[in-house]
Amino acid sequence: MCGIIGYVGREDSPRPLAVAIEALTRLQYRGYDSAGVVVANAAGLAFAKKAGKLEVLEAELEAHPLPLATAAIGHTRWATHGGPTDVNAHPHLSEDGSVAVVHNGIIENHEVLRLELAEAGVQFRSQTDTEVAAHLLARALVEEGNLPDAMRAVARRLEGAFTLLAVARENPRLVVGARRTSPLVVGLGDGENFLGSDVAAFIASTNRALELGQDQVVTITPETVVVTDFFGQPVTPRQYTVDWDASAAVKGGYPTFMDKEIHDQPDAVRDTLLGRLTPAGLLTLDELHVSEALLRSVDKIVVIACGTASYAGTVAKYAIEHWCRIPTEVALAHEFRYSDPVVNEKTLVVAVSQSGETMDTIMAIRHAREQGAKVVAVVNTMGSTIARESDAALYTHAGPEVAVASTKAFLAQITATYLLGLYLAQLRGTMFPDEVRAVLDELTAMPAKVQQVIDGEDSIRELATSMKDVESVLYLGRHVGFPVAMEGALKLKELAYIHAEGFAAGELKHGPIALIDEGQAVFVIVPSPRSRSVLHDKILSNIQEVRARGARTLVVAEEGDTAVAEYAERVFWVPPTPTLLAPLVAVVPLQIFACALATAKGLDVDQPRNLAKSVTVE
Ligand code: M6R
Repeated sequence: MCGIIGYVGREDSPRPLAVAIEALTRLQYRGYDSAGVVVANAAGLAFAKKAGKLEVLEAELEAHPLPLATAAIGHTRWATHGGPTDVNAHPHLSEDGSVAVVHNGIIENHEVLRLELAEAGVQFRSQTDTEVAAHLLARALVEEGNLPDAMRAVARRLEGAFTLLAVARENPRLVVGARRTSPLVVGLGDGENFLGSDVAAFIASTNRALELGQDQVVTITPETVVVTDFFGQPVTPRQYTVDWDASAAVKGGYPTFMDKEIHDQPDAVRDTLLGRLTPAGLLTLDELHVSEALLRSVDKIVVIACGTASYAGTVAKYAIEHWCRIPTEVALAHEFRYSDPVVNEKTLVVAVSQSGETMDTIMAIRHAREQGAKVVAVVNTMGSTIARESDAALYTHAGPEVAVASTKAFLAQITATYLLGLYLAQLRGTMFPDEVRAVLDELTAMPAKVQQVIDGEDSIRELATSMKDVESVLYLGRHVGFPVAMEGALKLKELAYIHAEGFAAGELKHGPIALIDEGQAVFVIVPSPRSRSVLHDKILSNIQEVRARGARTLVVAEEGDTAVAEYAERVFWVPPTPTLLAPLVAVVPLQIFACALATAKGLDVDQPRNLAKSVTVE
């Protein structure tokens, strides 16, 4: 959702605007429908803002250039309050033009504040919740005499989740930020400093960053960074080094980020395993700062996540229950805390998230911790809110994922949750060391197998292109193939805006089979014939059931599975893989299919309509 950049340097120059535009370009992946920037110099504030894509703002800046400046704040907006118009785009300025703000999140008490300001004579220009903050700040600035104190005073009055950045005419060598729940990180430069809604905002300039906590205000000048709480008490933030390099977030010769990220998947699995296996092949998870005694006493695991991350969690459920014999549930994070969940000190909650900023998951983590549960985050983004608010963070090393539709994060999440499951099994003795070792060896072989599936992409692309006018596709799977079916359907919905549904194949006869008609496309994820053969036999029956009713059967199956070929219109072969690891290869043809079909329809696969990469509101 909204992307934010703040920058301050020593002298008037074109750099503040250039840094802001570069940042907004890199933040586009979060999803947005308008963009804007304001620069500050000794003469005052100057801004430009436009509905539409960043190119519209850039054209405006070309037609009406902004002056050289020392500071800038910029914003990509994903509309919540008020439509995506020029007027509602950020920045918002106070009536007297003394203060400009950009904002991510929702100010929940904005109506009360708007009424209060309107009664005091303020004329509002926009329909946003944000504008109240600009007017309140201008008034607080008069009372407090400086922007940091004014920001603290205003932040104390705001309810909801927000990241707020402000610049003021009175001091163009200073940018102030406040955060409650919504994300904000500091980038440390030499003679310049940065604020960003995530590190992508400033990664082109620095990889040195500071984590900010809840209810904190940060003031940056070219030489200093000062962090306090909302009452002015100093806070010492944790510094860290971002291990993503700027080039990781560019397309690298691929037509889209999604194409690139599909091709990144062998590395995502490899890097997530890296450093977690001793030379002797044993599993170590140094970052798991939860006591062994507690991990031994856990009697239930609850995975909380949304979207793709929840499907990775569902895959993990099968593996964890099989390896650890611990009852494991998967809860959608937004349902979790309203379902009065039974969690306590003996529950281990595993929060899975690529961005680490999904508000629904953050709220579920808070609820679980209030009930006494320990939370381990499986997360891709260092320093993110989810990583900080959990008892331990087990990082996936997928690198930056830019395309809105998740691909490589899914494979990395399965890999990391599997490592967690194996670690628990090792610790609790539910697997013999040589059994753990055997699975680790198989996991180590997975990047090459994923690569093999990617190498066969042409036939999937060709099918996808031929199906660009399809109206509905169903996906069937059993066991770990079920969440893979759900993920395949989600990819097609998100990218190609086509009706798609994933089902547990056994559920077919309980209703969904009524959807099968002549020509209905059905993807079927077939488990290895070497798996429990009953699973394989049952899915062969399902293929025959839909085929008998006229469906087009598109099958993902293991090489050498001769039994499926006669019932399938098309088979996409994946290399022989143990049953529990099969999702890592089986999902890849489905990702490629959705990406290629959307491309054939001429759609923007990196930024599908209505979607945001980080869903930072509930
Ligand atoms: O950043 P997270 O992993 O917490 O995001 C969760 C979902 O919003 C995300 O997986 C979403 O479903 C993707 N668009 C799927 O492609």
